[in-house]
Amino acid sequence: MEVVVHKTYEEMSRAAAHLVADVLNTKPNAVLGMATGSTPLGLYQVLVRMHREEGLDFSQVTTFNLDEYVGLGPKHEQSYHHFMHDNFFKHVNIAPSNIYIPSGTTSNYRAFCEWYEQRIKQCGGIDVQILGIGSDGHIAFNEPGSSLSSRTRLKTLARSTIEDNSRFFKHADEVPIYAITMGVGTILEARTLVLLGCGANKASAVAAMIEGPVTAMITASALQLHPSSMVFLDETAASNLKMRDYYDWVLKMKPGAPQV
Ligand code: PGA
Repeated sequence: MEVVVHKTYEEMSRAAAHLVADVLNTKPNAVLGMATGSTPLGLYQVLVRMHREEGLDFSQVTTFNLDEYVGLGPKHEQSYHHFMHDNFFKHVNIAPSNIYIPSGTTSNYRAFCEWYEQRIKQCGGIDVQILGIGSDGHIAFNEPGSSLSSRTRLKTLARSTIEDNSRFFKHADEVPIYAITMGVGTILEARTLVLLGCGANKASAVAAMIEGPVTAMITASALQLHPSSMVFLDETAASNLKMRDYYDWVLKMKPGAPQV
């Protein structure tokens, strides 16, 4: 796992966007795994700017989103369909038919989840999966206790997640209780994982993910099992890391490291 701490949120977002742009410049038909929440907003803004000013091309890109609230239709202001359209998709030249987001209103969740998993495989698998981290250590909506080999499924949200996300809704009791989410096992199959973490409220979850044991109680700790995972943090989210000096040292020594 590569841990990169940036001074600011803006710097972290730029670094993550450059990584995504490098992938698209090498593989124009890459499959991207998308995340919602406040954390990746800066990354999406930089990608949109790169599209407008530098011609970063999304015409052959396919995307799969991690999750969606159950019960919210695509037009609902707090649905992740709406979030993605508003903050990213409508600003770039992606083909609408290449956008996949779990349905929050399907009449058959089990069948939909199976189909979603199949579609990821049929599209060649996810090249780069963007991730955030919850204050309870979740990735996507894989709350504490989720199996580390879980697949796309219906999930009951933790009370802490409902509280965290209530800031987006008028009243806390409007936050859906269920979500449809890619599983930890689904996420681990992506070729590269890029997790972004910012803010002091993430510091303890971030430390547990990187320096604690692999445990279903912190589903983000499953990144330790992945051969190609990167964690981009701002200073506040990195503030509980014990091995911080080492991560900075590794980064500093990187350009001159001997090639194997
Ligand atoms: P946030 O959510 O980016 O809004 O903090 C992250 C998450 O819960 O995965």
